[in-house]
Amino acid sequence: MRVLVTGATGFTGGVLAHYLVGAGERVRALVRPASLNRSRGLCDAGIEVVSGDLANAASLEAACQDVEVVYHIAATYRSAGRASAYREVNVDGTRRLLDAAQVAGVGRVVHCSTGGVHGHIEHPPATEEAPLSPGDVYQETKLEGERLARDRGEVGGMEVVVARPIGIYGPGDTRFLKLFRLASGRVMLGDGSAFYHLTFVEDLVEGFHLCGTVPAAAGRTYLLAGRRYTTLSKLVELIASELGSSPPSLSIPVWPVWLAGALCELTCAPFSVEPPLYRRRVEFFTKSRAFDASRARRELGFIPKVELEEGIHRTAVWYRGQGML
Ligand SMILES: NC(=O)c1ccc[n+]([C@@H]2O[C@H](COP(=O)([O-])OP(=O)(O)OC[C@H]3O[C@@H](n4cnc5c(N)ncnc54)[C@H](OP(=O)(O)O)[C@@H]3O)[C@@H](O)[C@H]2O)c1
Repeated sequence: MRVLVTGATGFTGGVLAHYLVGAGERVRALVRPASLNRSRGLCDAGIEVVSGDLANAASLEAACQDVEVVYHIAATYRSAGRASAYREVNVDGTRRLLDAAQVAGVGRVVHCSTGGVHGHIEHPPATEEAPLSPGDVYQETKLEGERLARDRGEVGGMEVVVARPIGIYGPGDTRFLKLFRLASGRVMLGDGSAFYHLTFVEDLVEGFHLCGTVPAAAGRTYLLAGRRYTTLSKLVELIASELGSSPPSLSIPVWPVWLAGALCELTCAPFSVEPPLYRRRVEFFTKSRAFDASRARRELGFIPKVELEEGIHRTAVWYRGQGML
């Protein structure tokens, strides 16, 4: 069986592509032309790299040829850019990929969404049935993307499974580096009472693979989350303990920083410059994320193995090895 992975030059897609090779799959990766120079590790692992872009329908049609399962991991995620940049990739790009997969006769698409489509969790922990309440343009476009995918699965012919991961971390990630640095500093943003839920990347990619292979998963939506959630202050305490430091002793209120983020966004927008601070980054400290992944456990046999302390340790080791901490 040949499988196609999008986003394999990114953090999660890269770990998934390597995992799938280890699981005996023949893996093809869709890589943007400008990123081909970062695909050496994929080629060395025996992954077939094909040039393409979610903006280019013809490249997607070629990439989907003779593919049984597509793992659609690529997204615009990290930038704080224009709203249209999120829409182009997370919605229009997803639509193009679904079209190409359908024409090529792909059997199943595993669509990577995000637990963020639920927004702030009022009543933790949230299941897949919790209200959908995206809080920013990234989450809105991810929700649109997953709706497109689910609708496509309902017309028949091609199976679709929607996976909603939460807080992906582990060696290779740089997004949580800021939290690690904050944990070894003196100042915490907010009171730390919001919940946060991390998922170790190696556990997650097993979950994706189950979404791609368990027959009964067709048409289903799964939250894929780590073994447990904590408050942000507990999480910061665990990270500080791993780093051999004391957790921050000072707390500053969130709203002035949020206002500063809004101002940065306004100031940078006319120049198409990435703002150094933006509201979504600040809201990380105020919105609760706590999930119940028991549907994935029951129906897929998804059992995350990596304890939070171990995941934090392995991530810190990697950051140190890269000279980032
Ligand atoms: N990280 C998290 O905590 C988290 C949580 C929940 C859900 N998710 C979801 O998980 C997935 C992976 O996240 P990540 O953090 O691993 O992402 P990432 O490291 O930012 O990687 C994004 C990938 O998407 C590719 N991509 C972007 N635009 C593309 C386009 N037009 N055509 C083809 N490929 C394109 C990028 O390619 P280039 O290398 O060429 O830029 C890169 O390979 C995303 O769907 C995200 O929404 C992430």
